[in-house]
This record gives sequence, C-alpha cells and structure tokens, in this order.
Amino acid sequence: MLQTSERLAKKIRVRLIEPDDSLAHLTGLLHRAYKQHADRGLHTLAAFQPEEVTRRRIADGECLVATYLGRIVGTIMFKSAEQTARAWPGVPWFSRPEGGVASFSQFAVEPEFQGKGIGAELMAHVEHRTAESGARELALSTPEPAEWLVAMYARHGYRAVSRFVWPNANYQSVIMSKAIGEA
Ligand SMILES: CC(C)(COP(=O)(O)OP(=O)(O)OC[C@H]1O[C@@H](n2cnc3c(N)ncnc32)[C@H](O)[C@@H]1OP(=O)(O)O)[C@@H](O)C(=O)NCCC(=O)NCCS
Repeated sequence: MLQTSERLAKKIRVRLIEPDDSLAHLTGLLHRAYKQHADRGLHTLAAFQPEEVTRRRIADGECLVATYLGRIVGTIMFKSAEQTARAWPGVPWFSRPEGGVASFSQFAVEPEFQGKGIGAELMAHVEHRTAESGARELALSTPEPAEWLVAMYARHGYRAVSRFVWPNANYQSVIMSKAIGEA
C-alpha cells in the first residue's frame, strides 16, 4: 500500500536524468503510463516507442525524472524555446514567428504513483525552467479525446491555442499554452 500524498511527496526527488539511469526502465515507464491512451485506441508514440526512440527524444532538451527511494517513477521533457522551434518547425504555436515558446512533452508517472502530486511537481519544475530560460510561454500537446487531461491542464492555467494531427497519430491533439512570468 502506498503512502499518503504528503508522506510520499517528502520522498520524491526531481533531478535531470543521468548517464547511469536505465533507458529501458524509462521506456517501460512511458509504455505503462501511456497505456491508458493505447487502451482507448489512441496511437500515442510514447505508448509504443522503442528504447532507441526514447534515447533520441531525450537528447534534444532536458529530461527530468522524479525518483522515489532511488527508483524513477516519473518523467517530463523540457525544451527551451529554441529547442522547441527547432524540433517542430511546422507545428503551429511551437514555431510561431515571434518565438518565445518553450514546451514540455513525454510527461508520465508510473500508474501506481499517479494522482499523488508527482505530475504537478514535475510541471512546476518545467514552469520554473521556462521562467529561467526567458521564454514567455510554456506549451504542450495533448490528445483532444483525453478530456480529463485537457481539463487538468486548463485548471493549471493552460489555454488551448491550436490543434494539430501528428504524423502517424489517429487523433487530433490540442496545443495548450500558459504565459509564464520571469524568474
Ligand atoms: C498526466 C500524468 C503525468 C499526471 O501525473 P500525476 O502524478 O498523476 O499528477 P498529479 O497527481 O500531480 O495530478 C495532477 C492533476 O491531474 C488530476 N488527475 C490525476 N490522475 C487523474 C485521473 N486518472 N483522472 C482525472 N484526473 C486525474 C489530479 O486530480 C490533479 O488535478 P489538480 O492538479 O487540478 O488537482 C499521469 O496521469 C500520467 O502519466 N498519465 C499518462 C500519460 C499522459 O497522459 N501524459 C500526458 C500526455 S499530454
């Protein structure tokens, strides 16, 4: 039985991924977390991606991990505005002409640890990094059919700014963004 959120939170550490961390474990965590979307018929990349794709995706930005007693139980990928525009040049908002849009992606918490505040803590870290980096907006893409996620981001101050269908996706995504003040 897991502990209450407050007791658990004291044992959660958020840090950058390190060379000794297992990408097989990180990939498995992504598969387990994103399975909820696959089970609903949504072809999200993170539900199926091989370890090599995880390696490639974490290379272009900052991969943060949340650990519980040394085990990675959550992750989020932060990209500065420059990295975001470079990674997704044709995607609306991410590559807006005036720039200044940082982003996060590959956001997952181990299913048995979900709903205990780890995701909110990871979001707080990337919002802080956005302010530090000087970007004015922090954006994300989420499947439109995942209504609870869209509602959750809206509660955290993110507004829908665009829609996009990613290559190989069988659903439309909402691009959401939050204005971030300077650190
Ligand atoms: C999204 C995700 C990373 C959030 O992590 P988490 O540790 O569960 O998040 P938290 O416990 O901090 O909760 C964050 C919010 O989500 C809500 N939430 C968490 N799990 C939920 C669920 N299953 N259904 C509805 N709301 C839920 C919480 O109530 C909380 O809302 P609040 O901040 O307004 O109170 C996690 O649910 C996950 O891995 N999901 C699968 C992968 C995914 O969809 N990633 C995002 C793709 S855009």
